[in-house]
Amino acid sequence: MNHTFESTLRFARKLDQADSLSSYRSKFFIPKLDGRPVIYFSGNSLGLQPKQTRTFVNQELDDWANLGVEGHEQAHRPWLYYHKFSKKILGQLAGAKPSEVVAMNQLTVNLHLMMVTFYRPTDRRYKILTEAGAFSSDQYAFESQIKFHGLNPEKTLVEVSPRDGEFTLRTSDIINAIEEHGNELALIVFGGVQYYTGQFFDVKRITDAGHKVRAIVGFDLAHAIGNVDLHLHNDNVDFAVWCSYKYLNAGPGGIAGAFIHESHFDRDDLQRFAGWWGHQEKERFEMRKGFKPIAGADGWQVSNVPIFQAAAHLASLEILQQAGIKALRKKSILLTGYLEYLLKEIDPFENSFSIITPVKAQERGCQLSIFLKKNGKRIFNSLSKNGVSLDWREPNVIRLAPVPLYNSFEEVFRFAEIFKQIV
Ligand SMILES: Cc1ncc(COP(=O)(O)O)c(C=O)c1O
Repeated sequence: MNHTFESTLRFARKLDQADSLSSYRSKFFIPKLDGRPVIYFSGNSLGLQPKQTRTFVNQELDDWANLGVEGHEQAHRPWLYYHKFSKKILGQLAGAKPSEVVAMNQLTVNLHLMMVTFYRPTDRRYKILTEAGAFSSDQYAFESQIKFHGLNPEKTLVEVSPRDGEFTLRTSDIINAIEEHGNELALIVFGGVQYYTGQFFDVKRITDAGHKVRAIVGFDLAHAIGNVDLHLHNDNVDFAVWCSYKYLNAGPGGIAGAFIHESHFDRDDLQRFAGWWGHQEKERFEMRKGFKPIAGADGWQVSNVPIFQAAAHLASLEILQQAGIKALRKKSILLTGYLEYLLKEIDPFENSFSIITPVKAQERGCQLSIFLKKNGKRIFNSLSKNGVSLDWREPNVIRLAPVPLYNSFEEVFRFAEIFKQIV
């Protein structure tokens, strides 16, 4: 595809004109610097606010004001059933049945809840395998869960690292590691898209390899959901968790999500930390002893739904549903491909920087991570001052995420012009 790109404003505008999703940008507030819209490439940290979010949240404020407690049943979207309204679209985004997904809590809380159910170490099978350099919160969750079971994290957590001189993991190395620890592996948890490098792991092959050695396989999809195509059900993933403040644009601290494969629904050998919202709906208010879970992912809910967060979540999911993840992914591949093309034009011999994200579109989402060889922090600060919103990761990586819902080809071009001047 790259050979068809051109490094001109005219060409970038041509791509925007041909983009069937270009109108979606107007559905979002774009932050400004000195009165001008910034080039917002930080959607991998915090997605932008949809203009309709306020309407959705106001609806709940109004219903609360007008109905008080009756809002549980009589609100425009009754609060008692609020978690159900996001199921269809979450299912589409996760490649799952609606019954397999639920919006609840925060990502790390959900990871803990999933590990309570799916990490049940025995004397022989007790290890957790993950990618080296997993997001800190996941590392803390693994460490604390391991200690909770009275085990030693150093002997229990297996981290797969890239080879010397490489930034990303080879799937064959992941599979070899799974096979090597086979009989001792209780659980495998990988990022869907790695937060630092932007590598999109091979969900199916990792899951198959894990199942072959009889381990449970879960994913942290913080950087994957709403960014790449997922097929959690067909790939037989056991569980997954995600947050909604990145590509789902649900706002800071937005309500997170979880997936549990339906093959686990009828298992009564599974443990979970229960609460009333996971109890069978018809009996929830009978206040009787004896927890009976709702069949499906809903049965892992603990508390009642935070309605304002859930409303903001729904506002954005509606837009994602209209745009469709397939069309978004198609544009995303082109948009990120264009960014990559322009970056390579700037520094073809990688004297100043190199892109550490995989080259193949099927091995990455929208994010490109750039390793700056010198003056990293200065370049980052300069980009920020010039109206580019991006992020910095120690020791010298900047991450750029052109998001197909609201970023344009023209922005990618303008970014490359600014970057060229600075580098
Ligand atoms: C990969 C990954 N996992 C976990 C988290 C933390 O999640 P939370 O604070 O929502 O629990 C983040 C936050 O950015 C993340 O990127």
